[in-house]
Amino acid sequence: MPKDSLSITDNRTGKSYEIPIQNGCIKTADLRQIRVDDRDFGLMGYDPAFLNTANCKSAITYIDGDKGILEYRGYPIEQLAEKSSYLEVSYLLMNGELPTRKQLDDFIYTVTHHTYVHENVKAFMDGFRYDAHPMAMLASTVAALSAFYPEAKDIKDAEIRRIQMIRMVAKMPTLAAFSYRHSMGLPYVYPNNDLSFVGNFLAMIKKIGTDTYKVNPVLEHALDVLFILHADHEQNCSTTATRLVGSSQVDPFSAVAAGITALYGPLHGGANEAVLKMLRSIGSMKNVPDFIKQVKEGDGETRLMGFGHRVYKSYDPRAKVIKRVADEVFEVTGKNPLLDIALELERIALQDDYFVKRKLYPNVDFYSGLIYEAMGFQSEFFPVLFAIPRTVGWVSQWEEMVLDPEQKIARPRQVYTGAKRRDYIPFEAR
Ligand code: CMC
Repeated sequence: MPKDSLSITDNRTGKSYEIPIQNGCIKTADLRQIRVDDRDFGLMGYDPAFLNTANCKSAITYIDGDKGILEYRGYPIEQLAEKSSYLEVSYLLMNGELPTRKQLDDFIYTVTHHTYVHENVKAFMDGFRYDAHPMAMLASTVAALSAFYPEAKDIKDAEIRRIQMIRMVAKMPTLAAFSYRHSMGLPYVYPNNDLSFVGNFLAMIKKIGTDTYKVNPVLEHALDVLFILHADHEQNCSTTATRLVGSSQVDPFSAVAAGITALYGPLHGGANEAVLKMLRSIGSMKNVPDFIKQVKEGDGETRLMGFGHRVYKSYDPRAKVIKRVADEVFEVTGKNPLLDIALELERIALQDDYFVKRKLYPNVDFYSGLIYEAMGFQSEFFPVLFAIPRTVGWVSQWEEMVLDPEQKIARPRQVYTGAKRRDYIPFEAR
């Protein structure tokens, strides 16, 4: 009978060990018993960047990278993008089940009535320089919310936890829009509770003076779908940052602020901006074959941005949905002139051995930047457009971590490679 265990022989000592396998994992703590002698700390796993380490058990998002599957609470992303709404998906992520009509109505009402921020938050944001990056403003303002809601530190209280989660989902579009208006030198627009979640966000961004800004329903729907696609993506860099910081039992505003700062980095939330830069530098369709050649023959420095993914080794399911959304948006805004270059790049790359062999397919960022640009957003605002919907993923993962009896304060080990113990040397002897 095959056993769910791993037999290990330590060739240093000749001793053998049997380590249980559960859910396709061994517990690396079980390796600690493997020791050369009593002074040995025990065997550890060395895994920089957690390439092969599960840091938690999670029931929120499932990804099968080889098959191109993404599911929230078991529901395929394609079905949610087609049939659901961002707030319904938020309810699903936070609660584990789809809401009844009444539950959804109540949830929408509650989120809608938490969109306002304290007037002092506005003053806080006013303190930034005119050229402050909107993502830096967002991260610091979310951290500052912990000072506005001091009760948030009572993370053991379910009701208090939930209200902070709602506050974050609800206030993020307001803070994002304020950061946008600040960077444009425009007055802040207060939330309008008669509008939808996305419609209200667009109005806070676009409204000028006393204009009665009308939200275009196609753009409103497109952004709602983009928000669904970005709502969660299991244990990525920013979610892991949120969980790790949250594991110290700090309040959720501080934990989510850490998630936002992680997302700020160009390797995470900034790839769609890099796609636009690449498309601009290619300049025209006739230059595409040369660019592909440069990618293939270069030293790895030039990459086809928006292609490839650490987890997806077949088409990113989000990219498929986004392509359809792009067509709908360009019907309204007019085609982004860079689209033809993108389509030609995709066409050639998908037939080219280099990309096929390495399983490099378009990822979510290949088309999202084109859509955001067509909607009138500057590229430095793109990561903010990612942070708004990811907030529900961060808070859901944060709460799951808080409630998980197996979790403790995160504290990885290290392999020390520094100097051996030595005595202090006075200046004159150095
Ligand atoms: N263009 C050309 N070659 C590539 C690319 C690319 N975009 N991506 C990977 N490769 C090659 C790479 O050179 C390597 O080739 P070789 O085996 O000959 O050395 C092979 O494919 C494997 O690459 P890797 O760097 O080991 O793969 P990874 O899993 O560490 O990297 C990635 C994943 C997303 C960082 C990478 O594919 C990449 O840099 N893509 C471009 C940036 C991008 O679009 N990022 C957005 C990711 S989606 C957003 C999100 O979900 O957060």
